[in-house]
Order: sequence, then structure tokens, then C-alpha cells
Amino acid sequence: MALISPSILSADFMNLKEEIEATERAGADMLHVDVMDGLFVPNITIGFFVVEQIKKITALPLDVHLMIDSPDRYVRDFISAGANVLTIHYEADRHLHRTINWIKELGARAGVSINPATPVSTLANIIGDVDLLVLMSVNPGFGGQHFIPSSIDKLKSLREMSRGTNALIEIDGGINVNNAPLVVEAGADILVMGSAFYKPRDYVNTVKKIKAIAGGRNGFAN
Ligand code: DX5
Ligand code: ZN
Repeated sequence: MALISPSILSADFMNLKEEIEATERAGADMLHVDVMDGLFVPNITIGFFVVEQIKKITALPLDVHLMIDSPDRYVRDFISAGANVLTIHYEADRHLHRTINWIKELGARAGVSINPATPVSTLANIIGDVDLLVLMSVNPGFGGQHFIPSSIDKLKSLREMSRGTNALIEIDGGINVNNAPLVVEAGADILVMGSAFYKPRDYVNTVKKIKAIAGGRNGFAN
């Protein structure tokens, strides 16, 4: 069964509470929270104060994706705010191994993400230390972009590389109900869905379609 992590970036921000409650009721597995700093990516979104408020109204695990430079500066704040999984970018951190281990010491699951132009081989020496590998299938910064087709081959290589480890593979960017079976077949365990989840406004049906796709591992062991 594939897992779904809807990205609230495409939700209706004026009704964020209702949107999150509806996402949870529909049966989503996690909530993907995109944090952008205007430096690592050309957009600014939300900070740990908002994550803290979200945490109060949902039981869904918070899958927080930091698209910020030098994320080590804010790891503690996001985990205190309630991030269950905290993902940082390979391209944004000079001391990836140290930050990843720090995330785990602070009690969260640690994720590492790579941009479309970054080869999966860069992850070889960190793969055994992480809980989540997040493959970007668009250039990070905005929701609603098109899936980059070469991501399929990257997914397959990542699946191969991660054999024998506990790391789950998440695909993020341009995922919809049509390409979802392809990415699961190529090795994705968790699908982030932003615009294709929130725009059709039929959350129950979207979750049902994603859950019907066989494949993927069974989420995080407790
Ligand atoms: C892109 C973000 C994604 C994005 C997904 O920078 O990391 O999580 O919101 O949105 P869609 O599914 O619309 O590409
Ligand atoms: Zn994201």
C-alpha cells in the first residue's frame, strides 16, 4: 500500500484548520509541511510558529520539509514545534551527517532530500543514517509544477541503493493520481501531493485511489 502525505502548500490558507481536519478525516497518512526561506528557494512560506499551531489541531504525523539554507540553525525549533519527520536538503547543509544525527537525537525521524539535478549517488554515505529519502521531482519552491520524467530512473536507483536499509523513499513534486502508480512501481513508498490533492477537493476519493496502489513499505515502524 502506498502512503500519502498531502502538502498543505496547496490548501486554502484562509481555512487551514478545516483543510487539515478534512485531510485527516479522508485518511491521509501524514501532513507535508513545506518550509521555504527565500534563499535556498525563491519563495517564502511558513515557520515553526505555524507548525506549532498545526500540531495542536491534528494527530497526523507532521512531515516537515525544510527548503532553507543551513537548516542546522532551526532543527531544534522545528522539532520542538512538533515535526515528527524533519527533512533537510543535501544541497543546503555543509555538515549533513552531523545535522542528520542531531535530528535523531532530538527525537524526530531524519530525512534528506535532493534536487532534480543532484545525482542519487551523493546519498551513498548517508543512506544508512536516515529514515527518509526525499526525491524532488520538480525544482523546489512552488506547488503545481510538472513532474520531471527523469525522476523515474532516479527513483529506481535510489530503491536499489536503499536495499537493506530502513530508509523509506518519498517522492515530492508533480504527483497526481495518474503518475502515482508509475512512481510506486519505480520504488516510492510515500507520495507527496499538493495541487493534485487540494485542487479537486475530493480528498476521500484521492486518498482511496492512492491507497489502492500496491507497493511501498509499511510506513515508519514505531
Ligand atoms: C515543492 C514542494 C512540494 C510541493 C508539492 O517545493 O516541496 O512539496 O508543494 O506540490 P505539487 O504536488 O503541487 O507539486
Ligand atoms: Zn515538499
